[in-house]
Amino acid sequence: MASSSVQTVATAAALLLMHLSTTSSASFGARDPPPPPLREAQASCVKYLGICENRLRQYNNSIYPVDQDTMCMVRCAGIIVGFWDDAQGFKIEGLNSLFPQLAADSRAQQQIVSCAEKRIATCPPPDTCAKAYNGFRCFLDAQKGGFGVREPLPQQSPPPFDAAEFIRSLSICAKIQRIPKELQDLYAQGIFPNDEKTRGLIRCVGIRTGLYDDEKGPNVPLLYNLFGAGQSEADFRRRANVCINANQPLLEAQDKDAQAYVKLYRCFTDQISALVRANANAMA
Ligand SMILES: *[C@@H]1O[C@H](CO)[C@@H](O)[C@H](O)[C@H]1NC(C)=O
Repeated sequence: MASSSVQTVATAAALLLMHLSTTSSASFGARDPPPPPLREAQASCVKYLGICENRLRQYNNSIYPVDQDTMCMVRCAGIIVGFWDDAQGFKIEGLNSLFPQLAADSRAQQQIVSCAEKRIATCPPPDTCAKAYNGFRCFLDAQKGGFGVREPLPQQSPPPFDAAEFIRSLSICAKIQRIPKELQDLYAQGIFPNDEKTRGLIRCVGIRTGLYDDEKGPNVPLLYNLFGAGQSEADFRRRANVCINANQPLLEAQDKDAQAYVKLYRCFTDQISALVRANANAMA
């Protein structure tokens, strides 16, 4: 009797301690929402990778469980905001630009970089999702233990959506999709062949730029801003809708990449090709 109640008290004390330690780490800002550019990248990666939308609530609260979806989401968001690259690996600069406190703390940076090197070395080489995640995890641990995210970044307005932003998204999506060099050379000439990789790339660019959505289809007003010079919006919209609707019955509803390729690329081929050719030297 006596020994079981001692045990109960001990268990309660342990639970209380656990509780205290979680609340105190939370007060360092680990559970603060990530800065806006990271939140936006997370949102487009969740859509693009087809991860259940309600996971985004966790990510928006800086909670990143260890599972395959989350790891690949971190890789994708890392490529977008610049803390991960499959070829170059973990890039602390990409995090410095998001977290001013980290940028000002070179000791924390070193600690994160050396932690990332060690952890990434233990991942099997082809598993880029696990590597990106492990690097990011080192950052999260350091954040929990010290520097906070108290001072928000001075509010940056998102970059204006224009040709340069379109090209930037193409380069980012080519990395996410692991597009081989031969295909990238074709893209630089404004040619986007109807193959699996390219269909995925077009959908990625569409989701990332907001020009396309799996449910709503092409965003015609935004496309008009980008491509509509010299036409009335009504004409532009009418032509766009004719093409989008004409292609609708041909499509396998399940294949999201094929939908995006037809409705976004096929219906705006000339404009997309011209834009890309005019800016090909900007494609890294
Ligand atoms: C998460 O953040 C993104 C970007 O700020 C926002 O668009 C989205 O609605 C948020 N989602 C949830 C579930 O909190």
